[in-house]
Amino acid sequence: MTEERLMDKIIEVCKRRGFVNPTAEIYGGAGGFYDYGPLGTLMRQKIIELWRQSFVLDEDRVFEISGATLLPEPVFQASGHLESFEDPLVQCDKCKSMYKADDIIKRSTGETAEGLPLDQLDKMIKDNEIKCPSCKGDLGNTRQFNLMFSTEIGSTGGIKGYLRPETAQNIFVNFKQLAGFMRNKLPFGIAQFGSSFRNEISPRNFLIRGREFEQMEIEMFYDPDKENEHPRWEEVADIDINIVTREMQEKGWEKPLILTAEEAVTKKHVPNQYLAYYLALETEMLLALGVPEDVFWFRHMQDNEAPHYSAGNYDLEANLSIGHMEIVGNALRTDYDLQKHAKASKSSFEIMVGDKKVTPHVCEPSLGVGRIFYLVLESCYRDDDRGWTWFQFPPAVAPLEVAVFPLMKKDGLAEFAYDVHTELKEAGYLSFYDESGKIGKRYARADEVGIPFCVTIDYDSLKDYTVTIRDRDTMEQVKLPLEDLEVALGELMEGDSEFQEFLEFDD
Ligand code: GAP
Repeated sequence: MTEERLMDKIIEVCKRRGFVNPTAEIYGGAGGFYDYGPLGTLMRQKIIELWRQSFVLDEDRVFEISGATLLPEPVFQASGHLESFEDPLVQCDKCKSMYKADDIIKRSTGETAEGLPLDQLDKMIKDNEIKCPSCKGDLGNTRQFNLMFSTEIGSTGGIKGYLRPETAQNIFVNFKQLAGFMRNKLPFGIAQFGSSFRNEISPRNFLIRGREFEQMEIEMFYDPDKENEHPRWEEVADIDINIVTREMQEKGWEKPLILTAEEAVTKKHVPNQYLAYYLALETEMLLALGVPEDVFWFRHMQDNEAPHYSAGNYDLEANLSIGHMEIVGNALRTDYDLQKHAKASKSSFEIMVGDKKVTPHVCEPSLGVGRIFYLVLESCYRDDDRGWTWFQFPPAVAPLEVAVFPLMKKDGLAEFAYDVHTELKEAGYLSFYDESGKIGKRYARADEVGIPFCVTIDYDSLKDYTVTIRDRDTMEQVKLPLEDLEVALGELMEGDSEFQEFLEFDD
């Protein structure tokens, strides 16, 4: 299988089986917009819930808000997005196609040109004789293009507004109320999940670079003098994280450095506990989602790659079939945003810490739902000798958890199976009932969308109240008393029991 085809195969399954579809496809679509279908919505929801549980609900001093997606111009004047949230755009003189200049250079030469000044990008395009990929025409000069979608607010068009390019700004502009809610005591975190919008020059690679996408962000506010006094540090200090330092990048690297969070901070590979805390939480989250540990790492970005507000980024990157991709942005935003908004709105965002006034510093983990969703799809995609493709989703992210089948529709099997399905739903399982087609086909259909367990009702079930569970990963089957089904499924889903143990019991 060629690498490019893996993404295409996944896109095909996603469209056919109700995961993700291009928006308004019947009208030709609009690049960079996608709709989640029935299974995609269930799976996306599980990703969001996993984040919410470990990044927000498990914490004492982190709360979530939901802000407006359209914000007035002064917000982005102050935040620096109007001036700096730009990508270098280059246009073909002949067919007028537009490209992101650093992308087109990377595709043609393999060299990274992100963050370089316009004249250097022009020079690289000229020196390497890079032409338009669509028509081979000459490319014009590179210019900066602001990525925000603008609109007029109100019927008379009085105020200019922008769709937010990150969820973070709602949190900064509400800082005074939020700090009051947190009793003006540091540290505290404010989380937000929601849509962000960027008018990407060349949206591509499916959910990896869209024009509307969802982010799960936290702005963690702390006293910079106490940057190594994270209140829950002991809980993550021993977690291994994969790091790629700047030095490793200069020398050329093959494998990331594996350090505990504690080692990463004491050896100064990660600047403080607040940031390292989130690198550990992200590592745990991806492992729970079925992403292997050797597929991702945290890279200390070069200065010219980091966003305008960042004093250092440690982005989570993954080795996808399309190359190394950023999946999560982890930024040290310092007091950049609060200072900018304080000055522009003539407010003070200082907090008293003892007898000292502090403008809090900010550490920000920013997780993109779509990119994590795609990373999970690629990590779990299986194309072995089964005769059909399947997803090895862990139950934590599987859109459906169990499928219930009657062996035949007749002789009361369908009614029996439907009752079992209803009971499983009532017990809280994401259960799916399917009675159409041969049983082998139904197993294949369930595997294709990654359902971990199938339960089949056959003639024995009518006689002795037993059911057959089939394990997706091994395709092994075992008979169990119906009364044990719920508990058995619970243990299998939680990982408290292996399917193998049930087989041994059956023998
Ligand atoms: N508030 C910080 C921020 O927005 P970012 O690195 O620009 O930082 C954070 O974005 C994350 O949002 C990325 O790591 C990615 O997961 C997601 N993201 C950004 N642009 C995206 C796009 N065009 N399509 C899909 N996801 C995107």
